[in-house]
Amino acid sequence: MDALDLPHLDVGPHAGVPVVLLHGFPLDHRLWMPLQRELQKTHRVLVPDLRGHGKAPVRPDGSMEAHAADVLRMMDRVGQRRFAVAGFSMGGYVALALARAAPERVAGLALVGTRAGPDAPEAAKGREATAQKVLAEGMRVLDEAMFPKLLTPAAPADVQALTHAMILGTPPAGAAAALRGMGARRDQRDLLPTLRVPVVVVHGTEDALVPPEAGREMAAAVPGARFALVEGAAHLVPLERPDEVAAHVGAWAATLR
Ligand code: MLT
Repeated sequence: MDALDLPHLDVGPHAGVPVVLLHGFPLDHRLWMPLQRELQKTHRVLVPDLRGHGKAPVRPDGSMEAHAADVLRMMDRVGQRRFAVAGFSMGGYVALALARAAPERVAGLALVGTRAGPDAPEAAKGREATAQKVLAEGMRVLDEAMFPKLLTPAAPADVQALTHAMILGTPPAGAAAALRGMGARRDQRDLLPTLRVPVVVVHGTEDALVPPEAGREMAAAVPGARFALVEGAAHLVPLERPDEVAAHVGAWAATLR
């Protein structure tokens, strides 16, 4: 697979297990700024822009396996064989693809606002229609469609502004590739019972994009996984409720070996 060099932040002490933070669609590394600030006090934290997002190169292959190969290349480049991954939504799909592709390298998974199952055929068809619309009309289409589902109306103005900026800053070709990649992603549910590393699942109770039930089912299928619900939070829980996410992910990070 043709892996790319991803632009990334690399902060925190070089001791213990590093943690890689993978953002969702169509966002970039800034989704993780609040968590990164906390986690870097104790862990080496790497935060890339995934291919086709933020400042990363755009490629037609937006498969979860291609994203995972990029992350493995990034970790090879920084000389870290084992690492833990926190993935939000699409980043969670990539985290599971990583755990399947390189189980010996993944020391733990924090799965935030995500799920292990694939798209239903209708949803995959809808992704293709959206990809074509975005390529023809630009990111405003996605901003209008997605923004109301990402945050609760109570989200602070700076969080709302950052969310718009991330969506509108995503290259349309990158978004289209990711939509097609997500539409074709494989079912990872058979992987869950085989995981033997610390896993925490964090989900907002008001998530309108990925139902909390999907998070609960995922956690129930992983031996020893913790499931944490964030009351009243919508999909973008890392930005809307950073303190709770930092508490749950921080507790998980403390168990990494
Ligand atoms: C995301 O937040 O990464 C995406 O909305 C996930 C998805 O569309 O399945």
